Amino acid sequence: MVKEKFISIKEAMKKGSGKVAVRGWIYRERGSKELIFIVLRDSSEIIQCVFKKDKFKKQWKDIDALQVEASIEVKGTIRKDKRAPTDYEIEADKIEIIGESHEFPIQKDLNEELLGDRRHLWLRSRKMVALMKIRSSYIQARDEFFKKKGFYRFDAPILQPTQSEGGSTVFEVDYYGNKVYLAQTWQLYGEAAVFALEKVYNMGPTFRAEKSKTSRHLSEFWMAETEVAWWKLGEITEFAKEEIKYCIVKTVKECAKELRFLGQNTQKILEITKKKWPTIKYRDALKILKEKDKINIKFGKDLRTIEEQKLMQHFDTPVVITHYPKKIMAFYKPKDPKKTDEALGFDMLAPGCGLEIVGGSERSLDIKEMSENLKEEGEKPEDYKFYFDLRKYGSVPHSGYGVGIERVLQWICGTDSIKDVIPFPRTMMRWKP
Ligand code: 4AD
Ligand code: MG
Repeated sequence: MVKEKFISIKEAMKKGSGKVAVRGWIYRERGSKELIFIVLRDSSEIIQCVFKKDKFKKQWKDIDALQVEASIEVKGTIRKDKRAPTDYEIEADKIEIIGESHEFPIQKDLNEELLGDRRHLWLRSRKMVALMKIRSSYIQARDEFFKKKGFYRFDAPILQPTQSEGGSTVFEVDYYGNKVYLAQTWQLYGEAAVFALEKVYNMGPTFRAEKSKTSRHLSEFWMAETEVAWWKLGEITEFAKEEIKYCIVKTVKECAKELRFLGQNTQKILEITKKKWPTIKYRDALKILKEKDKINIKFGKDLRTIEEQKLMQHFDTPVVITHYPKKIMAFYKPKDPKKTDEALGFDMLAPGCGLEIVGGSERSLDIKEMSENLKEEGEKPEDYKFYFDLRKYGSVPHSGYGVGIERVLQWICGTDSIKDVIPFPRTMMRWKP
């Protein structure tokens, strides 16, 4: 055993000289008769280690046989070397082989399907490591934001007795002979909680049977939701902007290197957070599409992906769009009393790509109206008694929203597919490993 205290490769590089002990996995290796170069990877960095034959007479055959992804411990002397891939090199004195590896099944030029099958191993790639670090940073920043704002974290069941966002995308589960559904949203329970805690948030797995193959839909994704008592549409939309700005700034600070590795311009991302993010109405969006893109959409139609993309070419920040047509909205979105064909709800779209990153609304307090909406969708209002109770005992206005974590990450990381930003994607075509 190498007895030294191990430090991360990043810490070793910071030290810059002298003896160090590191451990990790073989990222690359090449050898000649007298020298073997092993690029070692740990969660923090990669570094080149050089093994000289004259120092490792006994172990030479074993070192020479090492393959990519074998795990090893190395002790040696670190020094700056401009020729090395990350500007530092360790000249090894000792090696301990911990776990061998044979023909790692990810070589160059694998197609997406094969990388999907080998996702459990592909997680080790530098691209996935960068993406997972960014994801972790973003989510930790969000927790920090809500703690600072005095919110309570509130957890809801994943197995739920009703749908909430439309019966056509719900996953049914056999629950001891009864029918239940995988959560399409945390919201209905978040709403129950605001009568006790007033300001709540959470993040949880969310399920939608999306029967289409797109680069922006997952069947299982992580929604980060918020619900607040007393607030109305204007307050909730401004708060959603503040949350996302905060998380992005923090993530860029912590993960500038990773974002640059993915080809993103961190300066540009930060500039977006310094600007004011506009709020417009759905009717204004239709006007922009008509005037600038010659696209005619009749009031009452939902914006399709292509239209969201076209619209968001005209903006350099996210935009909140409110007052979508009431009749295409979820049952709990109230009508605007001043314009009853519009709903007091909103989406937030990302600039350029036009991804819908947030959806939210004020919540209807009108049991009769919601019952009618549900009936139109083929639902039984009786099943929503628990939800309607919230309107019976000290009802108050309240509002909330859900952020699609993968959508935000897809936008700020600039990945082609939403599948890149979740470790084990679930789509119509992919549920393994
Ligand atoms: O707009 P949605 O459907 O809103 C709700 O579910 C509300 N109940 C949230 C709330 O008010 N508490 O979903 C919210 C966000 C979308 O804007 C989108 O970013 C993301 O969740 N989303 C998906 N992300 C990936 N794959 C899918 N299939 C998604 N469906 C929604
Ligand atoms: Mg939506």
